[in-house]
Amino acid sequence: MSEHTIIPVHPQSAEYSLLTPSQLQAMTRRAERDPDGFWLDQAERIHWHSNPTRAFCGSFQDDVEINWYHDGTLNASVSCIDSHLGDRADQVALISHRDGTDEAEKLTYRMLHERVCRLANALQHLGVSRGDRVAISLPMVSEAPIAMLACARIGAVHVVLFGGLSAEAIAERLVDSGARVVITANEIARGAKRIPLKHIMDEALKKAGAESAVETVLVLRTTDAPVAMLPERDLDFHDFVDWFEPDCIPEIMNAEDPLFLLYTSGSTGKPKAVVHTTGGYMVWAAYTMGMVYTHRPNDVLWCTADVAWITGHTSVVYGPLANGSTTMMFDGLPSYPQPGRWWELIERHKVTMLFTAPTAIRSLMREGDDLVNRYDLSSLRLLGTAGEPISPDAWMWYHDVVGKGSCPVVDTWWQTETAGIMLGPIPGAQKLKPGSATMPLPGVSMVLTDTKGDVIEGAGEGCLCVTRSWPGQARTLWKDHARFQQTYFSFSPGLYFTGDGARRDADGYYWITGRMDDVINISGHRIGTAEIEEAVGTDRRITECAAVGVPHSVKGHALVVFAIARDEQTSITPEDITRQVSLAIGRYAAPDEVFIVPDLPRTRSGKIVRRLLRKIASGELDTLGDLSMLSDADSVDMLINTVWKEE
Ligand code: WT7
Repeated sequence: MSEHTIIPVHPQSAEYSLLTPSQLQAMTRRAERDPDGFWLDQAERIHWHSNPTRAFCGSFQDDVEINWYHDGTLNASVSCIDSHLGDRADQVALISHRDGTDEAEKLTYRMLHERVCRLANALQHLGVSRGDRVAISLPMVSEAPIAMLACARIGAVHVVLFGGLSAEAIAERLVDSGARVVITANEIARGAKRIPLKHIMDEALKKAGAESAVETVLVLRTTDAPVAMLPERDLDFHDFVDWFEPDCIPEIMNAEDPLFLLYTSGSTGKPKAVVHTTGGYMVWAAYTMGMVYTHRPNDVLWCTADVAWITGHTSVVYGPLANGSTTMMFDGLPSYPQPGRWWELIERHKVTMLFTAPTAIRSLMREGDDLVNRYDLSSLRLLGTAGEPISPDAWMWYHDVVGKGSCPVVDTWWQTETAGIMLGPIPGAQKLKPGSATMPLPGVSMVLTDTKGDVIEGAGEGCLCVTRSWPGQARTLWKDHARFQQTYFSFSPGLYFTGDGARRDADGYYWITGRMDDVINISGHRIGTAEIEEAVGTDRRITECAAVGVPHSVKGHALVVFAIARDEQTSITPEDITRQVSLAIGRYAAPDEVFIVPDLPRTRSGKIVRRLLRKIASGELDTLGDLSMLSDADSVDMLINTVWKEE
């Protein structure tokens, strides 16, 4: 398989396609020629209280100011729910399938409306109002999207926190966001694994102490596991919420009012929350999911991402609902209670579109074709992937074995900061190349630059940048606009730098090569080396450390930490370091391997040479390259000995 493999347009996708190839070209040209008109047209995909008359206002220069649709007003929950009550009130909006059971909760748009309104009223009763932050830490159950939409209904800003975070990481985020209410559950139960969410939240609130603004904790009971409640602070979710009225007048928001904050990893240890606002985000969710997932009324979209990631926000909640589709959630593992669980669920719920990460595809591929072939997957018409590069062989397996050769595979490139798809094919209108995220969507203006920021024309490889704002672009980092500018706009003034490298072939198709900054992508989870190093460094027995990502056959990358012990007498083990990272960030960020070493390779000016650490950790010892820039070339032999000869 090479990059020359071209998969022609599938006849089935041409049938569903919204655009012919020439219409797609015309749309792209229109977006170039008249961006304002183009984006005002796209704004019609959602429901506005008062329509905007301008699309973009602002500039990537100087302070970087981004405003979209600024004179429009709307409510995101109305676009996702109320706007469908006229013609599809009884259509299932949400299927939520519980782990290890045959139970699925199905909520129609009418039922979703009631549930969202009750919670919205309950939150208002607790004193939550416009602009207040509400933290949500829940399993993949229907209450998660309900909580997000209830916040949106009253103009509160949701902050969804990943269930894998440690108490310390949650405490930091509660303080930073200033959340007043927390919505959580007793526990997450997946397979044999239990995560005591409420207990971790209690610890987090204890750590945050007076710095936290949290007044109330709503506790959902997802299992029978007992849960300790603090009478003056904690409320049982259903005992409290179910008494409220099933209707709630939506708060009319300005397009630029924040809809949510989402924490993501970057190049420093401090957590950063990306700010997404209401109008632009909603148009972007509707547009990107509408264009690439070509939603039709009977579609059931199953995006396997956790709601705590941007993929969950846009592809589980806002995108499919804005498009009036049925969205499915599954709170479980691909191989529990038995291998083949995912395929069984696709058969059972007649899933038409599956969207998952390359890591999952690689691990399902290992289980073999027979398992897939045991189930009737004929309902599928589209397969999606995102989060990390997918190798052509995994792409082909997904296409041939899961999709039986008749479903297009859409590899979509995006980020927490972009809120939705930037690079991805329009099925039925574009040929596909396995391993390529194809081309920018109409209206998305991408370039490749060299490391100095000069634009590369034609085929080539470089830094992936965006030249013009798009409606779903993050507006700022919460309470830190200077860091926003510095992170994304200092590389080359006037360009948004994505942090990724990419290659563009002669046909204009993009091939993502991976992160160019200090971020590592592990199983599609973004982890900053700086946050790992900071976590390890807080142990006084360590003087210095370096975290690197090395290629891994299933996870994409594995995390390897090298640490220098304070002195030879210090007793510190790799397990101590793993524990330290789990405590500071969460178990999901725990290193795959830790090496305690006497020193690290450095340049003469003292900078740690991570490139060498990556090569040593991945065993590429023949291509270490020129070592003459090192202050002490012997340190390399010593490292190789530690990593490769000790076993
Ligand atoms: C980083 C963003 C899809 C959004 C969820 C992840 C990597 C994302 C692809 C893809 C190669 C990809 C990039 C990006 N990435 N999609 N299709 N091919 N790499 O959002 O956690 O903000 O991570 O994920 O490196 O910068 P995120």
